[in-house]
Amino acid sequence: MNIYCDKSKLNPLKLPRHIGIVMDGNGRWASKKHLPRIAGHRKGVERVQEITEFCGNIGIEALTLFAFSDENWRRPEEEVGGIMGLLRWYIRKEHKRITENNVRFRVIGDRRKLSSDIIELISALEKDTYHNTGMHLCVALSYGSHGEILRAVRKIVEKVKENLIYPDDIDEQIFESCLDTQGLPPLDMFIRTSGEYRVSNFLLWQLAYAELFFNEVLWPDFDTEKLIELLKQYSLRERRFGMTPEQVSLKQNESAIYLKR
Ligand code: IPE
Ligand code: IPE
Ligand code: MG
Repeated sequence: MNIYCDKSKLNPLKLPRHIGIVMDGNGRWASKKHLPRIAGHRKGVERVQEITEFCGNIGIEALTLFAFSDENWRRPEEEVGGIMGLLRWYIRKEHKRITENNVRFRVIGDRRKLSSDIIELISALEKDTYHNTGMHLCVALSYGSHGEILRAVRKIVEKVKENLIYPDDIDEQIFESCLDTQGLPPLDMFIRTSGEYRVSNFLLWQLAYAELFFNEVLWPDFDTEKLIELLKQYSLRERRFGMTPEQVSLKQNESAIYLKR
């Protein structure tokens, strides 16, 4: 029994294995309060800590957070610099806690565009948490799904050129093993805050059968209560993967019998 699920009245058997969140609305949160945009990003980082801890406690296997997109490099230099500063601060401050909490940390995206000291901080945390066995915390940084897919295609072409695989061998499994998210469980749940109804180049391949949740809350206001509410909605959704409702309930009954054994 998981006491955190119990306290939040969540059914541990109906939780997503992997949640992806587009943490949007930091700038609007700050503007509403007549604060500079960076104040919204700062508050956003506090929410990252809260949501990450909660997801780990209830037994989520992987959490992927969209922190900075490939397209966000187009923002004013001052804002990009401010976000990078927050990132440094976050990794330095959280290194010990993430490592000791058994979290497995990874960054996905084109890290070559990040400054060398940030790359070092990230690599050190990835290395120190590599053998951890708890939740995967995956931060999408300088990330764009198109770029990720193209990198995967290049890796596959190299393998073909080296005669390690034949073109006919290329299947979903091989393709997924070349994505930045390789080894993570399938994405079950997608959340975007701030009332924007788009995916903005986030995990396009992985979203194929995820349940989508768009909500109006600005990310700096997105708390554990809100996540619990969405998780309850998730638990009521019927995921059919192309099958009929009858087939789905038959499968559920079968696995219930199997679990009872
Ligand atoms: C999301 O908040 C954080 C990043 C993209 C880095 P925004 O900065 O996009 O906030 P809004 O959408 O302008 O309110
Ligand atoms: C998406 O938010 C990226 C992150 C949350 C990090 P944006 O605010 O950059 O997305 P668009 O440009 O409005 O679609
Ligand atoms: Mg935005």
